[in-house]
Amino acid sequence: MPGFLNRESPSQIEAKELHPTFGAEISDVQLAELSDEGFQNILDLMAKASSSFVQYGFLVCRNTGLTDATHVDFSRRFGDLDDIRPYMTGGRKPRYDYYELFDAGNVDEHGSVLALDSPRSHYGKGNGFFHVDSSFNPRRASYSLLRAAKLPPPNTGGNTQFADSRTAFDTLPDELKQRLLAKDYVGAHSLHSSRKRGSPDFFADLRPEDYPMHRHRICQTHEPSGRTNLYIGAHLHHIEGLSDLESWQTIWSLMGWATRPENIASVEWKSEGDLIIWDNTAVMHRAGGGAFEGKYVRDLRRTTVHDASPTAWGLNEKKDTRPGFNSFETPASKKLQAAMT
Ligand SMILES: [Fe+2]
Repeated sequence: MPGFLNRESPSQIEAKELHPTFGAEISDVQLAELSDEGFQNILDLMAKASSSFVQYGFLVCRNTGLTDATHVDFSRRFGDLDDIRPYMTGGRKPRYDYYELFDAGNVDEHGSVLALDSPRSHYGKGNGFFHVDSSFNPRRASYSLLRAAKLPPPNTGGNTQFADSRTAFDTLPDELKQRLLAKDYVGAHSLHSSRKRGSPDFFADLRPEDYPMHRHRICQTHEPSGRTNLYIGAHLHHIEGLSDLESWQTIWSLMGWATRPENIASVEWKSEGDLIIWDNTAVMHRAGGGAFEGKYVRDLRRTTVHDASPTAWGLNEKKDTRPGFNSFETPASKKLQAAMT
């Protein structure tokens, strides 16, 4: 039931429930000036088990007052940050001062709206599928923090949507749940795969099988809540040990179940400075389209926190290799590199 939490402790930040199983919203908290107690309150909302609080998978923060600099500083409180250096090929630089800010907007290097037929627009189409950030890396991500730097006019779309992959596991049909638990499947994740799926004609020559994939178990315990999470999403290329047909049937069954309407929340961006924090080890998300596309700037910037849990590295070697595409020399990969920046 939607309502306000934490009423019994007025010193704590009040959160409004946005979804009965996994989402909440706070307003007018100046995150750059947050005390240690206040930050702990944010963590409690998202991570700590408690008899009276849901452990939220995403937290919408309205009117945060964050800038690029304070966004990065605030994000460091959650852990070590990923950066975009592997993606900056050919000496290119980000269009802002921080390599820790991933560009989730539709803005070109001149500050104009990206053309819909530009390589970067094709690259971005894969983000319209439900996914978890960085599952294609050997070390996965825990939190993502996405901030609105500039928004299109109201009612032109661009919502960010979330899917509750813990509740999806809880409610799976019993046969499927028992099979997952018995088989303990391993998923192979690939950024190439989700890019190709998003724009198959543009990336027709790209063969995901030609590039490294990284391996994470499909069913994992979400440590802060102790619940089982389905670690799936659009970067999941295949499930190891299954035929292509069995793999796709299983992936589509799981994705279909996890994205049923009752497992979905859609968040509208309202003001510049709005921030959404989500836990990639508990939810999936996707970028919503709309009338703004090709017409209005929608400048969103994201920090990404490296997971520090025991399963952060999945079944991968613990080394700092990220699939930056500058190491691949094929024509198809060079086309992908050009589309990223
Ligand atoms: Fe994402």
